[in-house]
Amino acid sequence: MNILIIGSGAREHALAWKIKQSPLVKKIFCIPGNPGIAGLTHCAPGSTIVECVEGSVENIRALADFAAKQKIDLTVAGPELPLVRGIADEFAARGLKIFGPSRAAARLEGSKIFAKEMMKKYGVPTAGYETFENGDRAKKYVVEAEYPLVIKADGLAAGKGVAIVQTAKEAIAVVDDYFQKKIFGEAGTRVVIEEFLEGPEISVLALTDGETVIPLASAQDHKRAFDGDTGPNTGGMGAYSPYPLLFDKDIQELTQSTITPIISGMKKEGCLFRGILYGGLMLTERGPKVLEYNVRFGDPETEAVLVRLTSDLVPLLLASVEGTLKHQECRWLAKTSMTVVLASLGYPGAFEKDFEITGIDEAEERGARVFHAGTARNASGSLVTNGGRVLAVTALGETLLDARENVYEAVSRISFSGVQYRRDIGHQILGASICS
Ligand code: AMP
Ligand code: GLY
Repeated sequence: MNILIIGSGAREHALAWKIKQSPLVKKIFCIPGNPGIAGLTHCAPGSTIVECVEGSVENIRALADFAAKQKIDLTVAGPELPLVRGIADEFAARGLKIFGPSRAAARLEGSKIFAKEMMKKYGVPTAGYETFENGDRAKKYVVEAEYPLVIKADGLAAGKGVAIVQTAKEAIAVVDDYFQKKIFGEAGTRVVIEEFLEGPEISVLALTDGETVIPLASAQDHKRAFDGDTGPNTGGMGAYSPYPLLFDKDIQELTQSTITPIISGMKKEGCLFRGILYGGLMLTERGPKVLEYNVRFGDPETEAVLVRLTSDLVPLLLASVEGTLKHQECRWLAKTSMTVVLASLGYPGAFEKDFEITGIDEAEERGARVFHAGTARNASGSLVTNGGRVLAVTALGETLLDARENVYEAVSRISFSGVQYRRDIGHQILGASICS
């Protein structure tokens, strides 16, 4: 088979790495990919060729043209943007197989109001909320509300559209940012204002063909930039899998209460959801509640989860597209994985790039997998930093403690100017001890 992967992050590197292990696959293209993905050609096992091709994840027509021309048997869309813009519809209309939901189904991530309405209608536990399409009404509401409060832009805002506010003054400033200054453009001119919840957060990712739902292994992301869950929210600074306080049975139950009702609800609405539905859950004292849905693989959860998957990923993805998931199952390595994201100094704010990266081979010789995110080759062929999140270093261990030791040992081999990473991934379980 020929496979096309769309995206350029560590998630796509992990997908390409896993897909390359499938005996069904002859060639993998990635648009636009990254140097780590391009380097997979030279890695064992097998002779599968991996090629990165320039292009934009937003240019849906050009992506479909490429897939048709190269006789791609299956395309996997990594990021949400092309899905929310309707890449699956364009591919389906041209008879091309693509893993991921239609534009209408991708509204579960593209519109927080739509997601909230679906949760309400189909009985999924979530934070109490109100929606607003008018800044003045929102301001009136926040003056009388109890604090803290959470204000969310309705549309896609690159993970930055959530503000937790402590006072009415702060809330009014946020409402002005969204409605008047339009810092998120049209994405912020409709908002959800919801109650503040507390508890550990976990990610439940489930594979679905619109009917059958198969949960993947559980994972916990670390969204804040700095140790002790402080600093601004990021795309994710590290993850581990599985979440040790929940057994498989608990994950099945969580899936039943937070994912399955939405999948069957979407079917009832005439809007079949196929692909990955990823629930960001908070385990509150009053039970699990959904904070948000994503309609794609999480990053860095995917890196931590895929190194534990022993089943071939390709038949699973194909079965989701073809509606035959009930005949499939996922098998997992009974080990723990941990991913630590190495970022550029200043991320998630402004950062410099083009710093040379060294030590990846040494880290991999110690058994870690180093997935590339924001990397590039400079004119002389050296590997340099090229983004906020630069690398996602991933290692396995018998226990969470072992995985942590192994991953930080690998991290210590890698360097680039200004490297910034969390030293406490797993701290909610292992305690606050800081790894070097
Ligand atoms: P989201 O993009 O909706 O997942 O929100 C990003 C982060 O904001 C989450 O991972 C939580 O840490 C936090 N958050 C979102 N909604 C709430 C809420 N209702 N209560 C407390 N924290 C929240
Ligand atoms: N790990 C957070 C995300 O993928 O959105």
